[in-house]
Amino acid sequence: MDEHSPVLLAEALAGLQIKADGYYLDATFGRGGHAGAILMRLGAQGRLCAVDRDAEAVQAARARLGGDARVVVAHGRFGELRRWVPQEWARRGFDGVLFDLGVSSPQLDDPARGFSFLRDGPLDMRMDPTQGISAAQWLEKVPERELVRVLRELGEERFAGRIARALVERRREAPVRRTVELAELVAAAVPRREESKHPATRTFQAIRMHINGELDELAQGLDAALQLLAPSGRLCAISFHSLEDRAVKQFMRRHATVDPVYAGLPQVPPSARPKLRLVGKAIRPSEQEIAGNPRARSATLRVAERLAA
Ligand SMILES: C[S@@+](CC[C@H](N)C(=O)[O-])C[C@H]1O[C@@H](n2cnc3c(N)ncnc32)[C@H](O)[C@@H]1O
Repeated sequence: MDEHSPVLLAEALAGLQIKADGYYLDATFGRGGHAGAILMRLGAQGRLCAVDRDAEAVQAARARLGGDARVVVAHGRFGELRRWVPQEWARRGFDGVLFDLGVSSPQLDDPARGFSFLRDGPLDMRMDPTQGISAAQWLEKVPERELVRVLRELGEERFAGRIARALVERRREAPVRRTVELAELVAAAVPRREESKHPATRTFQAIRMHINGELDELAQGLDAALQLLAPSGRLCAISFHSLEDRAVKQFMRRHATVDPVYAGLPQVPPSARPKLRLVGKAIRPSEQEIAGNPRARSATLRVAERLAA
């Protein structure tokens, strides 16, 4: 398998229940592994909207799919999804919305993007480098206490205090601006290593999630998807760590039950009725997929179906 292997592809396609004349939204185009496979199953009446917040992904989408009249490509983020999808398609409603969360292999592999602790590069980590501030700029100013909170909450890092202290001490001499510099600082600050995990894994995950506002984005994206789905439309979300998966699971469960305010009451207003039906359980990749594509190791796919309003 090559570096762009789409994760849980067959399972996501089955979850989306692709219809040849259906309308689909891939909110995380990346390099189009999933989008390309969806498109192959669409006929002349089918439609695909491909979105990504990364300009390089959008460029790849335009180069690959730009000539296809069934496709609309947009550069945007989950928080603005409803602005980017064609209004006519939004009114009709989508038959499927896919989120394949996290970073793509091309983002991780390019040292200039600053996502990897293994490849030296500027400490940037923005999925859309035209927005917000880089990880290096954030690390230059962040109060120690706030850094501890981010490392703990978003990285579930038990040595958050030690890492934050080491960073604050280092930046008194000079700001930390390179990925490998940060990775080495973390490795030296951590007293015990987790088996088969680089000591900076959690720190990089936490800073990346903070810089890109990933949990907020996910919450906004899921809300938008709920509004964009047609009755019987499918919501598929592939997450890569426990915080993301928890957010997806809780969102789906919350919308698959009656608003607790009305639980047990004889009259439930339409706005408080379940909007989703859970489809099956969480799906994990096979041993075979993990052997061929180690990035799939931590993936979880959840599927839900939009109920009629
Ligand atoms: C795991 S990759 C997707 C890979 C893709 N399914 C494929 O097969 O090539 C995730 C992509 O989602 C994009 N992304 C992450 N968060 C986003 C957000 N909030 N809004 C829009 N795109 C986002 C990233 O820029 C990245 O390109």
